[in-house]
Amino acid sequence: MFPYPKYFGKLNYEESCKEESLHSNGNSNIIRQAKEAMSVFETIKQRRNIGKMTAQSPTRQQIEQLLEAATHAPNHHKVEPWKFIVLAGNARIELGQVMADSLARRLAENPSGNVEAMIDKERTKLLRSPVVIVAVAEQPRQANVLEIENIEAVAASVENMLLAGEEMGLACMWRTGDAAYDPHVKHWLGLSPADHIVAFVYVGFPAILKLERHPTPVANKTTWLGWQA
Ligand SMILES: Cc1cc2nc3c(=O)[nH]c(=O)nc-3n(C[C@H](O)[C@H](O)[C@H](O)COP(=O)(O)O)c2cc1C
Repeated sequence: MFPYPKYFGKLNYEESCKEESLHSNGNSNIIRQAKEAMSVFETIKQRRNIGKMTAQSPTRQQIEQLLEAATHAPNHHKVEPWKFIVLAGNARIELGQVMADSLARRLAENPSGNVEAMIDKERTKLLRSPVVIVAVAEQPRQANVLEIENIEAVAASVENMLLAGEEMGLACMWRTGDAAYDPHVKHWLGLSPADHIVAFVYVGFPAILKLERHPTPVANKTTWLGWQA
């Protein structure tokens, strides 16, 4: 179990009263469920991708907690199609060089913009956070497993990491870009060309405040069919 220090017990007065009466009725399981549901909803709403991080590194234990959260994601046929590669220290520099070399090759074929600046930016990208977790979807190994569903499961595992990171006070950022689809990057990571890099999850501590998110109202995105109430 990973800890939920931030929101546990963060009920308002009305809810506390409800909690009290539920406890006096001996119905503590119900209130425990309500608390956890509340915590998840708040965390979902508060989570933001945070692009600027301090140099302070999360601990190995914190990274392991994120990874554990990832492994609880839904996955069809229970194939657990994820693989994670944790990059820190010089590994970020080495992969950054591979990414820069790949970009240089692409730009040599099709030059545009300030080539040198673009290559330099690519080389140092992974240094924006002290740790980067590469989340990978494996190719299906059974005939009944669909490739897209493996990718979907790994996307869900990435969201689990982002939500756990939010609870733990970490900053996380889901990035992809051309490097995620680059065969040289996959090769350096020891992946097969058919594996999919679903995310580079940058992890650290926030160096900026979170902006509010105002999603399009769900009514604009939802069709209700056969709903009676
Ligand atoms: C598949 C995927 C790929 C993404 N790749 C990038 C990326 O390469 N660079 C980036 O800045 N953000 C990337 N993001 C993060 C989105 O930009 C971010 O989720 C969006 O701006 C909404 O911000 P929020 O998550 O804080 O609400 C990616 C998100 C997803 C789901």
